[in-house]
Amino acid sequence: MATIAITGSAGGIGRATTERLESDGHRVIGIDVRDADVTADLSTEGGRRAMVREVDERCDGVLDGLVVGAGIQGKDDGAATVSINYFGAVATLTGLRPLLERGTQPSVVAISSNSVTTQPSYPIEVAEWCLADDEERARLAAGTDGIGAYPASKLALAVWVRRHAPGKDWAGAGIRLNAIAPGFIDTPLTEGLWEMVSSIGDIYPMPQGRPGEATEVAGLLAYLLSPEAAFFCGAFLVMDGGTEAALRPESWPRPLALD
Ligand SMILES: NC(=O)c1ccc[n+]([C@@H]2O[C@H](COP(=O)([O-])OP(=O)(O)OC[C@H]3O[C@@H](n4cnc5c(N)ncnc54)[C@H](O)[C@@H]3O)[C@@H](O)[C@H]2O)c1
Repeated sequence: MATIAITGSAGGIGRATTERLESDGHRVIGIDVRDADVTADLSTEGGRRAMVREVDERCDGVLDGLVVGAGIQGKDDGAATVSINYFGAVATLTGLRPLLERGTQPSVVAISSNSVTTQPSYPIEVAEWCLADDEERARLAAGTDGIGAYPASKLALAVWVRRHAPGKDWAGAGIRLNAIAPGFIDTPLTEGLWEMVSSIGDIYPMPQGRPGEATEVAGLLAYLLSPEAAFFCGAFLVMDGGTEAALRPESWPRPLALD
């Protein structure tokens, strides 16, 4: 039995993953701003610190797995979007890393998004300020543009994972770190959007003609957390029913000029 923490545990993917892992016999410590074992607002520094303290107490300082899933698509609040999706996520990764170092075959998965490569345009400078670890400037650059801040925050998170996964604090410490990039999944985050999304096939194709299910994402997360996935390190795994492949069959990954 592994002890696994999940942020965003009260949401669609978080709840499905909690149920899946518990039915596989694991212990889950749910973290969310509501309805969770550990209630914390990951948009604030105080909330992030309190979360790390409380998880530490609950698991006696030892974690075997972590899913970093708390996130929003803040339509008119780009600033909150970067604070939760990137800075809250990175504070979770770095804050809980020492607990994972003491775990058994520890594995961590951050939830990015296929919007990183499929959204036609968005403000790359927001991702750059995130990766420069400047929350104030990232929030200013994101402003009220939640639609642009969402892929920017998820790009920065994916790049953070790829930069750190092979390094001494992660692979070198025996902790596997990977990112997944779901496409359109049927959860509260996407409620009411399917009709619109399914009607813009030229911009956002859905080759399978349906949204993904949270249980399908939970299955991928359960696999990546398991010892069976021991050779994954720094991966960015797209799971989107074919959207990314249909849009960009020959041009992945997008060249990045972030440094
Ligand atoms: N649903 C999709 O289509 C989709 C696609 C790609 C990526 N994702 C990502 O997957 C993750 C889970 O999304 P979901 O679809 O289950 O959405 P959801 O809205 O159902 O769940 C998100 C959870 O995050 C929590 N949360 C929000 N702000 C928080 C904060 N400040 N502190 C702590 N918790 C907070 C919410 O309370 C909620 O329970 C998110 O990171 C999302 O960006 C979702």
